[in-house]
Amino acid sequence: MRSLLRIVAATLAGSIFLCGNLCACSFVQAKPQKVKTVYIGVSIYRKDDMFISTMCTDLEAEVKKVEQKNHVKIVLNIMDSQSSQSQQNDQVDGFLSKHYDAVCVNMVDRTSAGTIVEKARKSGVPLIFFNREPVEQDLQNWDKAFYVGADAAQSGTMQGKLLVNAYRKSPKSIDKNGDGKIQYVMLEGEHGHQDSLLRTEYSVKAVTEAGIPTDKLANGTANWQRAQATAKMKQWIQKFGTRIEVVFCNNDDMALGAIDALQDSGTVRKDWPVVLGVDGTKPGLQAVGSGTMLGSAYNDAKKQAQAVVALSLHPSEVPAGFELQRSHYIYVPYSYITKENYKDYLNR
Ligand code: GAL
Ligand code: CA
Repeated sequence: MRSLLRIVAATLAGSIFLCGNLCACSFVQAKPQKVKTVYIGVSIYRKDDMFISTMCTDLEAEVKKVEQKNHVKIVLNIMDSQSSQSQQNDQVDGFLSKHYDAVCVNMVDRTSAGTIVEKARKSGVPLIFFNREPVEQDLQNWDKAFYVGADAAQSGTMQGKLLVNAYRKSPKSIDKNGDGKIQYVMLEGEHGHQDSLLRTEYSVKAVTEAGIPTDKLANGTANWQRAQATAKMKQWIQKFGTRIEVVFCNNDDMALGAIDALQDSGTVRKDWPVVLGVDGTKPGLQAVGSGTMLGSAYNDAKKQAQAVVALSLHPSEVPAGFELQRSHYIYVPYSYITKENYKDYLNR
Protein backbone atom coordinates (compact mmCIF):
# COMPACT_ATOMS: atom_id res chain seq x y z
CA MET A 1 0.00 0.00 0.00
CA ARG A 2 2.69 2.46 1.08
CA SER A 3 4.87 1.79 -1.97
CA LEU A 4 1.85 2.13 -4.25
CA LEU A 5 1.09 5.51 -2.68
CA ARG A 6 4.68 6.53 -3.11
CA ILE A 7 4.54 5.67 -6.82
CA VAL A 8 1.29 7.63 -7.23
CA ALA A 9 2.81 10.61 -5.39
CA ALA A 10 5.99 10.44 -7.47
CA THR A 11 3.99 10.25 -10.71
CA LEU A 12 1.91 13.24 -9.72
CA ALA A 13 4.98 15.22 -8.69
CA GLY A 14 6.61 14.26 -11.98
CA SER A 15 3.67 15.44 -14.05
CA ILE A 16 3.55 18.76 -12.19
CA PHE A 17 7.28 19.20 -12.85
CA LEU A 18 6.88 18.35 -16.55
CA CYS A 19 3.86 20.55 -16.81
CA GLY A 20 5.68 23.50 -15.26
CA ASN A 21 8.39 23.11 -17.90
CA LEU A 22 6.57 22.09 -21.03
CA CYS A 23 2.96 23.09 -21.10
CA ALA A 24 0.18 25.27 -19.72
CA CYS A 25 -0.83 24.42 -16.17
CA SER A 26 -4.51 24.16 -17.05
CA PHE A 27 -3.73 20.53 -18.00
CA VAL A 28 -2.98 19.55 -14.37
CA GLN A 29 -5.88 21.53 -12.95
CA ALA A 30 -8.36 19.87 -15.27
CA LYS A 31 -7.28 16.39 -14.23
CA PRO A 32 -9.66 14.89 -11.59
CA GLN A 33 -8.02 14.83 -8.18
CA LYS A 34 -6.76 11.40 -7.17
CA VAL A 35 -8.62 10.16 -4.09
CA LYS A 36 -6.42 8.57 -1.46
CA THR A 37 -7.43 5.09 -0.28
CA VAL A 38 -6.81 4.09 3.33
CA TYR A 39 -7.05 0.46 4.43
CA ILE A 40 -8.24 -0.28 7.96
CA GLY A 41 -8.35 -3.88 9.19
CA VAL A 42 -10.59 -4.80 12.13
CA SER A 43 -10.58 -8.10 13.97
CA ILE A 44 -13.41 -8.72 16.48
CA TYR A 45 -13.61 -11.47 19.11
CA ARG A 46 -17.03 -12.74 17.94
CA LYS A 47 -19.66 -11.27 15.72
CA ASP A 48 -22.75 -12.62 17.49
CA ASP A 49 -22.06 -10.47 20.55
CA MET A 50 -24.83 -7.86 20.56
CA PHE A 51 -22.73 -4.90 21.70
CA ILE A 52 -19.84 -5.73 19.36
CA SER A 53 -22.17 -6.02 16.38
CA THR A 54 -23.54 -2.57 17.27
CA MET A 55 -20.00 -1.32 17.34
CA CYS A 56 -19.28 -2.76 13.89
CA THR A 57 -22.32 -0.97 12.47
CA ASP A 58 -21.12 2.24 14.12
CA LEU A 59 -17.60 1.79 12.70
CA GLU A 60 -19.05 1.42 9.21
CA ALA A 61 -21.23 4.51 9.65
CA GLU A 62 -18.32 6.54 11.01
CA VAL A 63 -16.11 5.55 8.08
CA LYS A 64 -18.79 6.73 5.62
CA LYS A 65 -19.05 10.04 7.45
CA VAL A 66 -15.29 10.61 7.41
CA GLU A 67 -15.05 9.64 3.72
CA GLN A 68 -17.59 12.27 2.77
CA LYS A 69 -16.08 14.94 4.96
CA ASN A 70 -12.42 14.41 4.12
CA HIS A 71 -12.45 13.37 0.48
CA VAL A 72 -10.72 10.09 1.20
CA LYS A 73 -11.65 6.51 0.39
CA ILE A 74 -11.56 4.10 3.33
CA VAL A 75 -11.64 0.36 2.95
CA LEU A 76 -12.83 -1.11 6.26
CA ASN A 77 -12.30 -4.85 6.45
CA ILE A 78 -13.99 -6.39 9.52
CA MET A 79 -13.13 -10.02 10.32
CA ASP A 80 -14.64 -12.33 12.94
CA SER A 81 -12.22 -14.36 15.09
CA GLN A 82 -15.00 -16.68 16.30
CA SER A 83 -13.53 -16.66 19.82
CA SER A 84 -10.21 -18.09 18.63
CA GLN A 85 -7.03 -16.20 19.51
CA SER A 86 -5.01 -18.07 16.89
CA GLN A 87 -7.52 -17.11 14.19
CA GLN A 88 -7.26 -13.53 15.36
CA ASN A 89 -3.46 -13.62 15.22
CA ASP A 90 -3.68 -14.90 11.62
CA GLN A 91 -6.08 -12.09 10.71
CA VAL A 92 -3.72 -9.47 12.13
CA ASP A 93 -0.78 -11.08 10.28
CA GLY A 94 -2.84 -10.89 7.09
CA PHE A 95 -3.57 -7.18 7.54
CA LEU A 96 0.10 -6.43 8.25
CA SER A 97 1.41 -8.47 5.33
CA LYS A 98 -0.99 -6.65 3.01
CA HIS A 99 0.36 -3.32 4.33
CA TYR A 100 -2.88 -2.06 5.82
CA ASP A 101 -2.62 1.50 7.10
CA ALA A 102 -4.10 0.72 10.53
CA VAL A 103 -5.16 -2.38 12.45
CA CYS A 104 -7.93 -2.41 15.09
CA VAL A 105 -8.28 -5.34 17.46
CA ASN A 106 -11.04 -6.45 19.81
CA MET A 107 -8.88 -9.07 21.56
CA VAL A 108 -10.18 -12.61 22.05
CA ASP A 109 -7.81 -13.04 24.99
CA ARG A 110 -6.88 -9.63 26.27
CA THR A 111 -3.77 -10.97 28.01
CA SER A 112 -2.19 -12.04 24.70
CA ALA A 113 -1.81 -8.63 23.08
CA GLY A 114 2.01 -8.61 23.44
CA THR A 115 2.87 -10.40 20.19
CA ILE A 116 0.39 -8.34 18.19
CA VAL A 117 1.86 -5.11 19.57
CA GLU A 118 5.36 -6.26 18.69
CA LYS A 119 4.42 -7.12 15.10
CA ALA A 120 2.59 -3.82 14.57
CA ARG A 121 5.53 -1.91 16.01
CA LYS A 122 7.99 -3.66 13.69
CA SER A 123 5.76 -2.87 10.70
CA GLY A 124 5.25 0.72 11.89
CA VAL A 125 1.47 0.29 11.73
CA PRO A 126 -0.90 2.05 14.17
CA LEU A 127 -2.75 -0.42 16.37
CA ILE A 128 -6.02 0.39 18.07
CA PHE A 129 -7.45 -2.03 20.60
CA PHE A 130 -11.04 -1.56 21.60
CA ASN A 131 -13.56 -2.89 24.13
CA ARG A 132 -11.27 -5.61 25.54
CA GLU A 133 -8.47 -3.89 27.36
CA PRO A 134 -4.92 -5.24 26.99
CA VAL A 135 -2.39 -5.25 29.78
CA GLU A 136 -0.83 -1.79 30.17
CA GLN A 137 2.75 -3.03 29.69
CA ASP A 138 1.85 -4.35 26.22
CA LEU A 139 0.38 -1.01 25.16
CA GLN A 140 3.42 0.91 26.37
CA ASN A 141 5.63 -0.96 23.91
CA TRP A 142 4.47 0.93 20.85
CA ASP A 143 3.86 4.70 20.56
CA LYS A 144 1.07 4.11 18.12
CA ALA A 145 -0.78 1.50 20.17
CA PHE A 146 -4.00 2.67 21.81
CA TYR A 147 -6.96 1.40 23.73
CA VAL A 148 -10.45 2.78 23.19
CA GLY A 149 -13.08 1.68 25.65
CA ALA A 150 -15.01 2.79 28.67
CA ASP A 151 -14.36 2.93 32.39
CA ALA A 152 -15.83 -0.35 33.59
CA ALA A 153 -15.89 0.66 37.26
CA GLN A 154 -18.06 3.64 36.38
CA SER A 155 -20.73 1.41 34.81
CA GLY A 156 -20.77 -0.78 37.91
CA THR A 157 -21.16 2.22 40.19
CA MET A 158 -24.00 3.52 38.03
CA GLN A 159 -25.81 0.21 38.21
CA GLY A 160 -25.55 0.26 42.00
CA LYS A 161 -26.75 3.86 42.17
CA LEU A 162 -29.77 3.11 40.01
CA LEU A 163 -30.73 0.52 42.59
CA VAL A 164 -30.04 2.84 45.53
CA ASN A 165 -32.31 5.51 44.00
CA ALA A 166 -35.13 3.05 43.48
CA TYR A 167 -34.67 1.71 47.02
CA ARG A 168 -34.78 5.19 48.53
CA LYS A 169 -37.99 5.99 46.67
CA SER A 170 -39.72 2.78 47.69
CA PRO A 171 -37.76 0.38 49.92
CA LYS A 172 -40.55 -2.19 50.03
CA SER A 173 -40.63 -2.59 46.26
CA ILE A 174 -37.02 -3.84 46.41
CA ASP A 175 -36.61 -5.38 49.88
CA LYS A 176 -39.66 -7.58 49.50
CA ASN A 177 -39.08 -9.74 52.58
CA GLY A 178 -38.48 -6.60 54.66
CA ASP A 179 -35.31 -7.87 56.37
CA GLY A 180 -33.45 -4.61 55.66
CA LYS A 181 -31.01 -6.36 53.31
CA ILE A 182 -30.96 -6.83 49.57
CA GLN A 183 -30.82 -10.46 48.47
CA TYR A 184 -29.20 -10.54 45.03
CA VAL A 185 -27.80 -12.78 42.32
CA MET A 186 -25.02 -11.69 39.96
CA LEU A 187 -24.86 -12.68 36.28
CA GLU A 188 -21.28 -12.15 35.19
CA GLY A 189 -19.65 -11.70 31.77
CA GLU A 190 -16.62 -13.73 30.66
CA HIS A 191 -14.07 -14.60 33.33
CA GLY A 192 -11.09 -12.27 33.30
CA HIS A 193 -12.79 -9.56 31.20
CA GLN A 194 -12.19 -6.14 32.78
CA ASP A 195 -15.90 -5.32 32.51
CA SER A 196 -16.99 -8.48 34.33
CA LEU A 197 -14.57 -7.97 37.19
CA LEU A 198 -15.18 -4.27 37.74
CA ARG A 199 -18.93 -4.16 37.13
CA THR A 200 -19.39 -7.03 39.57
CA GLU A 201 -17.33 -5.30 42.23
CA TYR A 202 -18.52 -1.72 41.85
CA SER A 203 -22.26 -2.36 41.51
CA VAL A 204 -22.45 -3.98 44.94
CA LYS A 205 -19.98 -1.49 46.40
CA ALA A 206 -22.23 1.45 45.48
CA VAL A 207 -25.11 -0.19 47.33
CA THR A 208 -23.18 -1.03 50.49
CA GLU A 209 -21.51 2.39 50.48
CA ALA A 210 -24.99 3.92 50.48
CA GLY A 211 -25.55 2.09 53.75
CA ILE A 212 -27.77 -0.67 52.39
CA PRO A 213 -26.61 -4.15 53.44
CA THR A 214 -26.54 -6.85 50.77
CA ASP A 215 -26.77 -10.58 50.83
CA LYS A 216 -25.38 -12.53 47.85
CA LEU A 217 -27.47 -15.61 47.04
CA ALA A 218 -25.47 -16.72 43.99
CA ASN A 219 -23.18 -15.60 41.20
CA GLY A 220 -22.00 -17.18 37.96
CA THR A 221 -20.89 -16.44 34.45
CA ALA A 222 -23.12 -16.44 31.38
CA ASN A 223 -20.33 -15.11 29.10
CA TRP A 224 -22.34 -12.02 28.04
CA GLN A 225 -24.92 -14.28 26.38
CA ARG A 226 -28.68 -14.19 26.65
CA ALA A 227 -29.35 -17.94 26.37
CA GLN A 228 -26.68 -18.84 28.93
CA ALA A 229 -28.16 -16.25 31.30
CA THR A 230 -31.63 -17.76 30.94
CA ALA A 231 -30.27 -21.18 31.85
CA LYS A 232 -28.45 -19.86 34.94
CA MET A 233 -31.40 -17.79 36.07
CA LYS A 234 -33.75 -20.77 35.72
CA GLN A 235 -31.59 -22.72 38.16
CA TRP A 236 -31.57 -19.82 40.60
CA ILE A 237 -35.33 -19.34 40.40
CA GLN A 238 -35.74 -23.02 41.17
CA LYS A 239 -33.39 -22.78 44.12
CA PHE A 240 -34.34 -19.41 45.63
CA GLY A 241 -37.78 -18.66 44.20
CA THR A 242 -39.05 -15.21 45.12
CA ARG A 243 -36.24 -14.68 47.65
CA ILE A 244 -34.24 -13.08 44.82
CA GLU A 245 -34.80 -9.33 45.14
CA VAL A 246 -32.24 -8.04 42.64
CA VAL A 247 -30.53 -9.49 39.54
CA PHE A 248 -27.33 -7.59 38.75
CA CYS A 249 -26.23 -8.34 35.19
CA ASN A 250 -22.88 -7.32 33.73
CA ASN A 251 -24.64 -6.50 30.42
CA ASP A 252 -28.08 -6.01 28.89
CA ASP A 253 -28.12 -9.26 26.94
CA MET A 254 -27.77 -11.29 30.13
CA ALA A 255 -30.42 -9.09 31.79
CA LEU A 256 -32.74 -9.96 28.91
CA GLY A 257 -31.90 -13.63 29.43
CA ALA A 258 -32.82 -13.33 33.11
CA ILE A 259 -36.11 -11.66 32.12
CA ASP A 260 -36.80 -14.54 29.69
CA ALA A 261 -36.37 -16.97 32.60
CA LEU A 262 -38.68 -14.94 34.85
CA GLN A 263 -41.29 -14.84 32.13
CA ASP A 264 -41.04 -18.62 31.59
CA SER A 265 -41.25 -19.31 35.31
CA GLY A 266 -44.75 -17.90 35.53
CA THR A 267 -43.84 -15.81 38.59
CA VAL A 268 -46.45 -13.08 39.05
CA ARG A 269 -45.11 -9.74 37.93
CA LYS A 270 -45.32 -8.05 41.33
CA ASP A 271 -43.01 -10.72 42.80
CA TRP A 272 -40.32 -10.26 40.15
CA PRO A 273 -36.91 -9.10 41.31
CA VAL A 274 -35.46 -5.88 39.97
CA VAL A 275 -33.17 -6.52 36.97
CA LEU A 276 -30.26 -4.23 36.01
CA GLY A 277 -28.04 -4.22 32.90
CA VAL A 278 -25.25 -2.33 31.15
CA ASP A 279 -24.92 -1.29 27.44
CA GLY A 280 -28.19 0.26 26.29
CA THR A 281 -28.62 -2.03 23.29
CA LYS A 282 -31.92 -1.58 21.41
CA PRO A 283 -33.67 -4.55 23.12
CA GLY A 284 -32.15 -3.44 26.44
CA LEU A 285 -33.61 0.04 26.03
CA GLN A 286 -36.98 -1.44 25.17
CA ALA A 287 -36.90 -3.53 28.35
CA VAL A 288 -36.18 -0.40 30.39
CA GLY A 289 -39.11 1.28 28.63
CA SER A 290 -41.46 -1.58 29.44
CA GLY A 291 -40.25 -1.72 33.04
CA THR A 292 -38.93 -5.29 33.02
CA MET A 293 -35.44 -3.82 33.48
CA LEU A 294 -35.02 -1.10 36.09
CA GLY A 295 -32.18 0.65 34.28
CA SER A 296 -28.85 0.35 32.53
CA ALA A 297 -25.60 2.24 31.93
CA TYR A 298 -25.09 3.45 28.37
CA ASN A 299 -21.98 2.03 26.72
CA ASP A 300 -21.48 4.56 23.94
CA ALA A 301 -20.50 2.43 20.92
CA LYS A 302 -20.85 5.34 18.51
CA LYS A 303 -18.41 7.55 20.39
CA GLN A 304 -15.98 4.64 20.77
CA ALA A 305 -16.21 4.00 17.01
CA GLN A 306 -15.45 7.67 16.34
CA ALA A 307 -12.28 7.49 18.43
CA VAL A 308 -11.18 4.20 16.80
CA VAL A 309 -11.54 5.61 13.28
CA ALA A 310 -9.88 8.93 14.18
CA LEU A 311 -6.85 7.19 15.71
CA SER A 312 -6.61 4.83 12.72
CA LEU A 313 -6.35 7.79 10.36
CA HIS A 314 -4.33 10.16 12.57
CA PRO A 315 -2.45 8.20 15.23
CA SER A 316 -0.33 11.20 16.15
CA GLU A 317 -3.25 13.45 17.06
CA VAL A 318 -5.58 13.27 20.02
CA PRO A 319 -9.03 12.98 18.40
CA ALA A 320 -11.09 16.14 18.81
CA GLY A 321 -13.51 15.91 21.72
CA PHE A 322 -11.62 13.09 23.46
CA GLU A 323 -9.04 12.96 26.20
CA LEU A 324 -5.94 10.78 25.83
CA GLN A 325 -4.87 9.33 29.16
CA ARG A 326 -1.44 7.93 29.95
CA SER A 327 -0.53 8.49 26.25
CA HIS A 328 -2.48 5.41 25.11
CA TYR A 329 -6.01 5.35 26.53
CA ILE A 330 -9.34 6.85 25.57
CA TYR A 331 -12.22 6.12 27.94
CA VAL A 332 -15.67 7.17 26.80
CA PRO A 333 -17.96 7.95 29.74
CA TYR A 334 -21.09 5.91 30.48
CA SER A 335 -24.43 7.56 31.23
CA TYR A 336 -27.58 6.56 33.09
CA ILE A 337 -30.51 4.94 31.31
CA THR A 338 -33.82 5.08 33.13
CA LYS A 339 -37.49 4.75 32.26
CA GLU A 340 -37.64 8.54 32.11
CA ASN A 341 -34.89 9.01 29.50
CA TYR A 342 -34.60 5.71 27.57
CA LYS A 343 -36.28 7.22 24.49
CA ASP A 344 -33.43 9.71 24.08
CA TYR A 345 -31.12 6.75 23.48
CA LEU A 346 -33.39 4.84 21.09
CA ASN A 347 -32.70 7.16 18.19
CA ARG A 348 -28.97 7.59 18.64
C1 GAL B 1 -18.71 -5.22 27.12
C2 GAL B 1 -20.19 -5.19 26.82
C3 GAL B 1 -20.69 -6.61 26.69
C4 GAL B 1 -19.85 -7.40 25.70
C5 GAL B 1 -18.38 -7.29 26.00
C6 GAL B 1 -17.56 -7.96 24.94
O1 GAL B 1 -18.23 -3.91 27.18
O2 GAL B 1 -20.87 -4.55 27.85
O3 GAL B 1 -22.04 -6.61 26.30
O4 GAL B 1 -20.11 -6.90 24.43
O5 GAL B 1 -18.01 -5.93 26.14
O6 GAL B 1 -16.21 -7.74 25.10
CA1 CA C 1 -34.45 -8.40 51.66
